[in-house]
Amino acid sequence: MSDEDIKIHRGLNNVYFDRTKTTYINGKEGVLEYRGYNIHDLSEKSSFEEVSYLLLYGKLPTKNELDAFNKSLKESREIPSKIIDIIRSIKESHPMDVLRTAVSALSAFDEEASDKSYDATMRKGIRLTSQVPTIVMAHNAIRGGKDPIEPSKELSHAANFIYMLDGEIPSDSTASLMDKDFIVHADHGSNASAFAARVCAGTQADLHSAITTGISVLSGPSHGGAAENVMKMVKEVGSPENAKDYVKNLQKSGERVMGFGHRVYKAEDPRAAQLQEGVKFLSQEKGDPSWYEILVAVMDAMKPYQRRGIHANVDFFAGVIYHLLGIPTDLFVPIFAVGRIPGWTIQVLEQYKNNILLRPLLSYTGEHQQEYIPIENRK
Ligand code: CMC
Repeated sequence: MSDEDIKIHRGLNNVYFDRTKTTYINGKEGVLEYRGYNIHDLSEKSSFEEVSYLLLYGKLPTKNELDAFNKSLKESREIPSKIIDIIRSIKESHPMDVLRTAVSALSAFDEEASDKSYDATMRKGIRLTSQVPTIVMAHNAIRGGKDPIEPSKELSHAANFIYMLDGEIPSDSTASLMDKDFIVHADHGSNASAFAARVCAGTQADLHSAITTGISVLSGPSHGGAAENVMKMVKEVGSPENAKDYVKNLQKSGERVMGFGHRVYKAEDPRAAQLQEGVKFLSQEKGDPSWYEILVAVMDAMKPYQRRGIHANVDFFAGVIYHLLGIPTDLFVPIFAVGRIPGWTIQVLEQYKNNILLRPLLSYTGEHQQEYIPIENRK
């Protein structure tokens, strides 16, 4: 078949490659559901632990089921001391690089690492959900010249995460905002990192390999890296009255405004709406409304883009929330990963259940019939 006869789907845009019962996204109307439950209901009424259960088991838990699930999560928070040694040895690297390396190394300490049965993969997914926050915060402590703070066995997932930052138990409102952030990041269909995790699982590789793959793919600025860049942008804008010129200048130089646009959402990203409320609230609570005001001014300046389906996405608000919580900018992408572990796990489980090697084609447009010239005769 010649290249002209081949329909190329660059970026696999609008291509369906399988079916899922986990997450529904309607990009035109800005709808996101996990297992049929609207993200707004889940963000406002549920907890990250409950949402993780929902994603993994396909139903909302009873009280007893949630208690047992919470117990497993809390019992899995510690990481082996040899992982701490590895983190120490690479402490100068970007936190995403450290996380990728540490998760990969964890497989050496997980007795079920190569067991790809449904039950073992589920158990590993639960363990990784709890271990990833510990890795992120242990590295943060170590690079700051401190000893890691032991994870709490009492606090919720979100509260424990903030607790490991500085040893202070966060207020209920702060913990609940972090919880909401983890909920909206928990899964998102076939985004680049989940797709990559599925490609990995499609070869029958194990969960640690698939999650390591997901972390690698998430690190790019077009995916998870956007929140970090939004914070840089907000600092560059400096004050609300500069927003219009800032956006105009980016437009002129053909650059993208970070935290805007989405491959699937052409209407408002419902996750962004949830986090916008959070930034507003936190800015007031911290008595520092300036960051929120800059975000609103950038949104105003971006209004003309709405006609082209470019709206604020989840990362637009996430960065300022983390900043107001005192979290260093380079931990923003790892936080995305902390929330995403249940999502990657269930996508890997779905892939295993009806497995097929994911192997698309590339249309070759290079030369043919080239004459092989020995190296000494090449110019
Ligand atoms: N600022 C300005 N213009 C934009 C933006 C933006 N943020 N996003 C897309 N466009 C324009 C783009 O220039 C292009 O214009 P034209 O047709 O004139 O060349 C058009 O919109 C389509 O862009 P595209 O790159 O073909 O669209 P895509 O679906 O591949 O892009 C995206 C999706 C997320 C990579 C892109 O919107 C982007 O780079 N956004 C900034 C980074 C960002 O915020 N990423 C976080 C995504 S949400 C978190 C997640 O779920 O991973």
